[in-house]
Amino acid sequence: MTLVESPAWLALGRHATNLRQRHLRDLFASDGERFQRFSRRHDGLLLDFSKQRIDADTHRLLLDLAVAADVDGWKQEMLAGAAINHTEGRAVRHMALRAGAHAPAEVRAVLERLQACCDSIHGGAWRGWSGEHITDIVNIGIGGSDLGPRMAARALAAQQQPDLRVHFIANVDGADIAPLLARLNPRSTLFIIASKTFTTLETLTNAATARAWLLATAGDETAVAQHFIAISTNRQLTRQFGIADENVFEFWDWVGGRFSLWSAIGLSLALAIGWRQFEQLLAGARSMDEHFINAPPADNLPLTLALLSLWNTDFLGAGSAAVLPYSQSLQLLPAYLQQLEMESNGKRTDRAGQPIAVPTCPIIWGDAGTNGQHSFYQLLHQGGQLVPCDFIALRDADFPLPGHHRTLLANCLAQSAALAFGQNADELRAAGVAESLLPYKLFPGNQPSNTLLLPALNAYTLGQLLALYEHKVFCLGVLWNLNSFDQWGVELGKQLAGQLAPLLAAGSDDSAFDSSTRGLLAALR
Ligand code: F6P
Repeated sequence: MTLVESPAWLALGRHATNLRQRHLRDLFASDGERFQRFSRRHDGLLLDFSKQRIDADTHRLLLDLAVAADVDGWKQEMLAGAAINHTEGRAVRHMALRAGAHAPAEVRAVLERLQACCDSIHGGAWRGWSGEHITDIVNIGIGGSDLGPRMAARALAAQQQPDLRVHFIANVDGADIAPLLARLNPRSTLFIIASKTFTTLETLTNAATARAWLLATAGDETAVAQHFIAISTNRQLTRQFGIADENVFEFWDWVGGRFSLWSAIGLSLALAIGWRQFEQLLAGARSMDEHFINAPPADNLPLTLALLSLWNTDFLGAGSAAVLPYSQSLQLLPAYLQQLEMESNGKRTDRAGQPIAVPTCPIIWGDAGTNGQHSFYQLLHQGGQLVPCDFIALRDADFPLPGHHRTLLANCLAQSAALAFGQNADELRAAGVAESLLPYKLFPGNQPSNTLLLPALNAYTLGQLLALYEHKVFCLGVLWNLNSFDQWGVELGKQLAGQLAPLLAAGSDDSAFDSSTRGLLAALR
């Protein structure tokens, strides 16, 4: 029996028929305790899910579904190190990276080396080939080897170390790296080549360009040792690239790329914010891990987020979900969560190789508020599509300026209320709106949202926040009975790009390709 045939799923289906007709206005009107009923706190974090289109029965039935899907059993499997990434035969142990004193010896050994590396760069002991201090770090990586540290370094800009600039290069488009190199000094620039596999074409192309740029000034291959660090699971290929073994920081195949911020992949972030702050990031994630492992299902924040996402997707019919941080510093969070959620759960085949009968991961998108209010929020309010939103707000500003933060918070609260409750014809009339304009000015409301409140944005709370979403993704994968930890869907494009690259040269035989690809190749040639 698949999950969608289970009594728990069928009960939810029956219940949804009724709930779909109900407006958030009624749900709030009929339950004065709604906020208390549907909000939870953990270690300073507050999740308010009272503006979701659920009632107490929905909540109970969703929790039944978690039992039917055996979320707890799968959690235990993950913790025990079972190869739950079954298509790659790998365990999923990113929690071990932030387990502190309980981390495996191999993890602690790498953390010690990373700390020493940070100390040496921050303290000025690490010198370039000509004896200069390092002033600029360039992280070259893509996907999970880029998005995490890039997003977190942006998020924690208020904690930025003085005298060291950290840059991120991902795209194979020369327009990414060329303008950066043009303003850097090769004598004081250190490159971190971050690639789990060390085979990713974009990263290796950029790394080769960086190497050539360095050697054009340094002249001598030995300079590579002082200017290149690698972070990879593939020691053989880092050696081939010419990176000294002592400059290679390893991680392990049990760390998925999109779960790797906590590994050596976080080095660029640690350099940006300092080692102590990086440890705080790990501590925040650990706090969420402990909560995820121990909190009962009804209070479990990651499980709650997962169940609500599944409810909105499979029972209310949402095809996308917006992430709306009311924090400019969290501007890159939607992009980070796109990889985390969509690369993990954007799948239609279950663990037994069978098609999944219901939609899985919604399209994740979003931008920082208030900016989005002046662009895409029109659709959220009046576009007629169901788009569940995650609002994220900070009680205290990370860059406190008079008048700013209160306005920002007021907008966040205003938007979630406007989306939930809308404005009906009677209210518009009472406000003096002409009858002829009523149809245009109606706000239907009933747009569900979560609001996550963080006391402040710092390394600790960011660690909590990211681990919260990681575990949400895990729970959803269990609920949909899919493997969240592989990503076969990225392979075909890579293979075809490999075949097409030589065909861009004049006189190539492209007859194996379709007429569209041939036509485009001809135009490009
Ligand atoms: O193409 C997808 C992917 O494999 C991601 O899963 C990964 O984060 C990214 O590429 C980068 O991979 P690597 O760290 O091996 O260069």
